Amino acid sequence: MVSVSLRNLSKSFGSGANATVAVDNVDLEIEDGEFFALLGPSGCGKTTTMRCIAGFESPTRGEIWIGDRFINHVPPHKRDTGMVFQSYALFPHYDVFQNVAYGLLMRDLYNGRIGAFAGLFSKRLARRSADIREQVHKALDQVGLGGYDERQVSQLSGGQQQRVALARALVRRPSVLLMDEPLSNLDKNLRIQMRDTIRHIQREVGITTIFVTHDQEEAMGMADRIALMRDGRLEQVDRPTELYDRPNSSWAARFVGSSNIVDTTVERTDAEGTEVRLGSRRIRVSGFEAAVGDQVRLIMRPEALSVRPRSGAGPDTGNTFDGTVSKVTYLGPNIVYTVDVGADDGATSTGAEGSGATGLLTGTRQLVEVTDTFRGADAVLSVGTEVQLSIDPDRIIVAEGDSS
Ligand SMILES: Nc1ncnc2c1ncn2[C@@H]1O[C@H](COP(=O)(O)OP(=O)(O)OP(=O)(O)O)[C@@H](O)[C@H]1O
Ligand SMILES: [Mg+2]
Repeated sequence: MVSVSLRNLSKSFGSGANATVAVDNVDLEIEDGEFFALLGPSGCGKTTTMRCIAGFESPTRGEIWIGDRFINHVPPHKRDTGMVFQSYALFPHYDVFQNVAYGLLMRDLYNGRIGAFAGLFSKRLARRSADIREQVHKALDQVGLGGYDERQVSQLSGGQQQRVALARALVRRPSVLLMDEPLSNLDKNLRIQMRDTIRHIQREVGITTIFVTHDQEEAMGMADRIALMRDGRLEQVDRPTELYDRPNSSWAARFVGSSNIVDTTVERTDAEGTEVRLGSRRIRVSGFEAAVGDQVRLIMRPEALSVRPRSGAGPDTGNTFDGTVSKVTYLGPNIVYTVDVGADDGATSTGAEGSGATGLLTGTRQLVEVTDTFRGADAVLSVGTEVQLSIDPDRIIVAEGDSS
């Protein structure tokens, strides 16, 4: 097994004023055996990056290494990669065995071990070789399709077809497995089930895997590390929990979950930390150094805030402010409260200090989302309830160097 390195990789299509920069100076080190996700919105350059690694596109600039091999000029079939596509790309009129054997036959053809293309799909040819038979059966077992050899792929479910495609990629025992949105044609339940299957197989085989998706939940649930891409560039490369808990920018924060984004000003700093203005209150933010007067953008995950009715509220611990429940969204195990914390003109809200809790969120939105655990129907707060919100100072994220 091997690592994959991309060094200052760029790929442009077209030239001059019409050029599209699909991949822009990407630097990545993907470790041996790692399950690595390329995540980002449509058009951000995920597929192009993947196609450069597979050898279907040649980079405009930069280097691609697989292990200690510099492969920019190595043709695709000699790169030792296996690829799985969104559309499976199976041969519908052949059976499962033939589709998987195809991966091996192509390799042997390229290596000159099979001279003629004709007859590649002859069952006799493929099945005659005990070696091919054994490898195909092993790959089918790996993806949980043992005994399916003779089934026509057109008679398989979407999930089973995707497993055949996976077996076809794995049968050559490549060093690197490349998967481009392999689950997006499946329905939701199957998609979730296939995540586990793919992860399980990947761990068992121990193969370095690069997985492209635009679904943040899929990337978070499957990957060891994620490269979040935006307009051809890397926005952030991190483990899923880090990406969620410490996004570099509000863009990254929004892409991997919902967030309350607040622009505010540093009002005080001392040995214990920093205090920023939030409406009529000052709140403390941990792990962050700044000077008085600095403008900062704060990111607060809905679950970093807690909410309780003001009537039963305890003593003010400092990092609290008031609001009124304006919407309740029940999501099974969780409830999302949308809390109105006051308008910019200071007309609403009764802060504990008696003044209007003004301008908590800049712009027109003065609403904060808070996630609470569902603790029974009677405990659900109704619209109009006056509440106290608290923020854990350790869970406030400062978007440093935020540009959006
Ligand atoms: N062959 C091509 N010729 C010209 N432009 C291209 C070509 N392939 C991709 N692009 C452009 O490069 C950019 C990145 O495309 P790419 O397919 O890599 O995006 P993606 O992140 O995979 O998106 P999606 O999630 O929609 O699959 C897009 O602006 C796209 O239009
Ligand atoms: Mg794509």
